[in-house]
Amino acid sequence: MNRFTEHLQFYRQFRERFETTGAVAPSSRFLARALTSPLLTRQGPLRVLEVGPGTGAVTSEIVRRLPTGSRFDLVEINEEFADLLRHRFLHDPDFAKVAEQSSVHCCPLQEFQAEEPFDVIVSGLPFNNFPAPLVEELIDLCLSLLAPGGEMAFFEYMFVRPIRCKISPVETRNRLKQIEDILQQRFSEYRTRTDWVFVNIPPAWVQHLRREATGTDALSAH
Ligand SMILES: C[S@@+](CC[C@H](N)C(=O)[O-])C[C@H]1O[C@@H](n2cnc3c(N)ncnc32)[C@H](O)[C@@H]1O
Repeated sequence: MNRFTEHLQFYRQFRERFETTGAVAPSSRFLARALTSPLLTRQGPLRVLEVGPGTGAVTSEIVRRLPTGSRFDLVEINEEFADLLRHRFLHDPDFAKVAEQSSVHCCPLQEFQAEEPFDVIVSGLPFNNFPAPLVEELIDLCLSLLAPGGEMAFFEYMFVRPIRCKISPVETRNRLKQIEDILQQRFSEYRTRTDWVFVNIPPAWVQHLRREATGTDALSAH
């Protein structure tokens, strides 16, 4: 699929399903590389989950970096995106190479039944578009799906929450403040680093979170 078609399909879904799509354009290659950097530092084979893959902008980097013998699950709520991804696993050469070890699940993450925990989770979920309780549910779900020592990466558009807080009606402002609190709390416990990616529309931060390797359930505190 060429970049123009990908952008067009993405933009159509942005217009039809603004809340879940949450962006006007798919992620750039630079953002995709930052999100998938945990795949380069770990020894394979790995269990990898991508949440909210959309048209596959980040997926195309995952399939290139997936260590031999890994398992790859994708969870996408939008059936048009899920169909497009299945098509890519059949026809796009990079995707086809790992098609046998990959599965596209068309459902919300909240309904996904994981067979085993994951070593790496890459999320494209647009947290700022969701009600605060849903953000809390989704981020804790991702963290609970991580194996001990597992890593999660997700992106946020730079300074969007503080800017929207300044210009939005009070209801949105309160919702965004609650999201900020929820994320800051998880950052204080799990964040290992933040990458700044300027070549993306709009520029983005990649947040890297890691679950302790001790095997104790760090989530029981929440
Ligand atoms: C901002 S787009 C990111 C798409 C792609 N990862 C990228 O970076 O270009 C958000 C994606 O999350 C999906 N999504 C939103 N809510 C979801 C949920 N609860 N479970 C699974 N996917 C969801 C949307 O359909 C969309 O594909």
